[in-house]
Amino acid sequence: MNINIAIIGGGLMGREITSAFARWCAFTDVPITPVLKAVADLNPETLSWFKRIPSVTQMVSDYHEILANPEIDVVYVAVPHHLHEKIYIDVLRAGKDLLAEKPFGIDLKAAENICAVIKETGRFVRCSSEMPFFPGGQRAYELARSGSIGRILEVVSGFHHSSDLDPTKPANWKRLNTTCGEGGVLNDLGMHACHLPLRLGWKPTKLFAQLQKGYPQRPDGKGGTTNCDTWDNALLHTWADIGGQETPVRFEMKRLQPGATNTWFIEILGTDGGVRYSTADPKALHLFERGKEQFWKRTELGFSTPFKTVTGGIFEPGFPDVIQQMWAAYLLEREGLLESRFGCATPEEALATHQIFAAALESHTTSSVVHL
Ligand SMILES: NC(=O)c1ccc[n+]([C@@H]2O[C@H](COP(=O)([O-])OP(=O)(O)OC[C@H]3O[C@@H](n4cnc5c(N)ncnc54)[C@H](O)[C@@H]3O)[C@@H](O)[C@H]2O)c1
Repeated sequence: MNINIAIIGGGLMGREITSAFARWCAFTDVPITPVLKAVADLNPETLSWFKRIPSVTQMVSDYHEILANPEIDVVYVAVPHHLHEKIYIDVLRAGKDLLAEKPFGIDLKAAENICAVIKETGRFVRCSSEMPFFPGGQRAYELARSGSIGRILEVVSGFHHSSDLDPTKPANWKRLNTTCGEGGVLNDLGMHACHLPLRLGWKPTKLFAQLQKGYPQRPDGKGGTTNCDTWDNALLHTWADIGGQETPVRFEMKRLQPGATNTWFIEILGTDGGVRYSTADPKALHLFERGKEQFWKRTELGFSTPFKTVTGGIFEPGFPDVIQQMWAAYLLEREGLLESRFGCATPEEALATHQIFAAALESHTTSSVVHL
C-alpha cells in the first residue's frame, strides 16, 4: 500500500527523510510504502534539490497549497521551532496526519495548544525521535522492562555534540531564542535524551538544572556577526519514581562536548544488572552481570533493527537507518500494524518533555529544586 507524503521544510531533515524514502526497497517486512509527492520550502534553491525525486509533482513556497492537495495523506514538518505551532495546527485542520519534529512547539504553551488540536481533530500524530531505534536503544529498553536489572539505582540519558565549540561556525536559527525557543539546547536535543526514560514511565517528579551558554556572538554567514542567546549545555539532575523508589535520572544535552559528534547514549544501572549503549560505538552493547565476581560484558549487536531489511545482520547501523526505522514505525502504527514493536514518540511524551524543559528553566533561574 502506498501512502502519499508531503514535506514542509526541505532543509537538513527534509532531505534526510527524502533519502530514507528513496531507499525503502531495503525493507523486507513493511507492507506500506511512503511516496513523496509534495514539498514546500521558502528557499527556491532548497526546493530545487527535490527535482531529483521523480515522484515529487508539487514544489511550492506556500505550504497551504500542499495542504489543499487531496492526494496527500501524511505531512512531515521540519521547520524552525517558532513555526511549529502554527504549521502543525494548519496541517491538522487541513485533515492530514502529521509526523512532527521535536521539540513539538517552541515552548510548553505551544505544545499544549498543538495537543488540544490533535484531540479536537482526531488526527494521527507522532513526534520524530529516531535514536531509540538503534539496536542498542531497543535492547536497553527491553532489558529495562524485563526486570532483570533488579532495583534501578541510577539512569543517565543524553545527547552530546561539539559543533558549537568552533567560534567561527556561523549562527543559524538554532542559536537564537526567538526561533529556537528559551529552552535552547533543551528544545534542540532534549527529546533525544527524554524519549526512552519517558517511554519506560520514568517521568521526573522533581529536578535541579544547570544550564550554560556558549559564545555570545558568532559570524552571521553574511560577513557580519550576530548575537547568540540560547543555552548550549544542560544538565538536568532529576528524580523519578522507579519501582516505588525515588531514583536519580540525569539528562545531559550538550552542544559543547569536546570530541562528540551526535552521540546519543543511555546507561541504566541496577542491583542485579545494567546496560550501557552509546552511538559513539554503534554496534557495541555493554551489559553488567553480578555474580560472585562482577562483569561488564561487551557484545556487538550488528544490524538487529526492529524492522527487518536486506542489510546483512553483521553490518553496522547508522543515523540514516534509524530515521528509516522510525518512519516504518510511524506508518505501521498509523495503519494499526505495529503490534508489539516500539512506536514513535507520542504527543503526550512530547508534551512531557516541554514540562521537563519548563521546570529546568525555572530551576536554573531560581537555583532551586522544582517539583513537576
Ligand atoms: N530528529 C532529528 O534528529 C533532528 C535533527 C535536526 C533537526 N531536527 C528538527 O527538525 C526541524 C528542522 O530542523 P533542520 O535542521 O532541518 O532545519 P533547517 O534550517 O536545515 O531546515 C528548515 C527549513 O525550513 C524552511 N522553512 C522555514 N520557514 C518555512 C515556511 N514557512 N514554509 C516552508 N518552509 C520553511 C527553511 O527554508 C529551511 O529549508 C527542527 O524542529 C529541528 O529541531 C531534528
